[in-house]
Amino acid sequence: MTNVMSPGRGSRSSLGQRVRADFPILEQSFDGNPLVYLDNAATTQKPRAVLDALVGYYARANSNVGRGYHRLAFAATDAYEESRAVVQRAINAEHPDEVVFVPGTTAAMNMLADTFGRATVSEGDQVVVTGMEHNSNLLPWRRLCEATGAELVVVQTDEQGALNPSRFADAMGPRVRLAAVTHVSNVLGTVNPVRELIDTAHRWEVPVVVDGAQAIPHRQVDVRDLNADFYCFSGHKVYGPMSTGVLYGKRDLLTDLPPWQVGGGTVKDVRADEPVRYVPAPARLEAGTPNVAGAVGLAAAFDYLTEIGWSDIRRHDETLVRAAVEEVGDVPGVRVLGNPAADPSGIVSLVVDGIHPYDVCGHLDHNGIAIRAGVHCANTFVDTLDPVGTVRLSFAVYNTVEELELVSRALRTVEPGLWTTEHPTERFL
Ligand SMILES: Cc1ncc(COP(=O)(O)O)c(C=O)c1O
Repeated sequence: MTNVMSPGRGSRSSLGQRVRADFPILEQSFDGNPLVYLDNAATTQKPRAVLDALVGYYARANSNVGRGYHRLAFAATDAYEESRAVVQRAINAEHPDEVVFVPGTTAAMNMLADTFGRATVSEGDQVVVTGMEHNSNLLPWRRLCEATGAELVVVQTDEQGALNPSRFADAMGPRVRLAAVTHVSNVLGTVNPVRELIDTAHRWEVPVVVDGAQAIPHRQVDVRDLNADFYCFSGHKVYGPMSTGVLYGKRDLLTDLPPWQVGGGTVKDVRADEPVRYVPAPARLEAGTPNVAGAVGLAAAFDYLTEIGWSDIRRHDETLVRAAVEEVGDVPGVRVLGNPAADPSGIVSLVVDGIHPYDVCGHLDHNGIAIRAGVHCANTFVDTLDPVGTVRLSFAVYNTVEELELVSRALRTVEPGLWTTEHPTERFL
């Protein structure tokens, strides 16, 4: 067994030590145990740079955007549009107006299903998804198919929980109107070859929606290089504020999308006796008062990550994932699922023989370690792995290999508890 405290391994994870002080929430202890936060796939903690950006915006520039004709309104509008430009550059979109601010990935997928989906999918058509989708990239398409009489085609994963690109290619055909795929699995951390999948779909002229929720904190996403038609992610999973997110869409697809919600901010003009004239995207898709401070905070998060550097973040993820697989996977009774070390992306899922994931979660919590257990909002995928769910460790820039040693030490003392003995088949989100 490799010693996770060995100088070589420890020094390779020094990003965690270097940035930890940027995150005030991590200064806490529970019952004398320093907080070890490993539930980052659910949401990441926020660096001081993001907290300062939020306070700074509210203290100096708060106003409504795109409406007022006074200096604060101009300052707020500028801050909002500058934030859009920061996101545009971060994901290498061609134009800022390809970036629509939304409350998160779930909202983006529902918006797409209700607008683009409704406009392109009819009875007898097919919509293709993978077997590893989060409910947020499954249910909007499933509901769209139920409502239109289209068929939802689910490309099942292999025994390792990975997607075989040739199975995806086999699912393409003349009836397919769109495909929705996740970039990175939120359960196993498996990375899909999205560029290859997009190329395959485009050969059939099928547009592709990518769920980037778990990719965006771990790799420098380049939507142009991927040639994604739509790419959606949540800001709160990439160190930004809660209820922020982005729907990226190629300009020609986005501009004429029917508005999802209608109201203030979406129109050029409204007359009682004339058809409503809508403005183009992105404003046409951002009805009502947007989360301006959220956008400013999200831009600050991207600036923060750019300063750290994406190659350091990738190396850090590799160190943590490999350490988790080796050290935690070495604990008797622990089985790591899938093959997270193949292309590390910040997630390692495991099961502990004979112990319900919620008992594992509770035991780790008593040791100051926050993780997630259950089906991770991917019920149908987890059905193919373990009937009651998995224990998921998910990493961020502030985690260290030393924290993984604490996890492995705690796992050595876990015992069957209430869930194992009284609710062995109960499973949770
Ligand atoms: C892969 C994936 N897609 C979608 C979502 C939904 O994100 P949100 O709840 O921020 O809308 C999540 C959240 O865990 C996710 O992991």
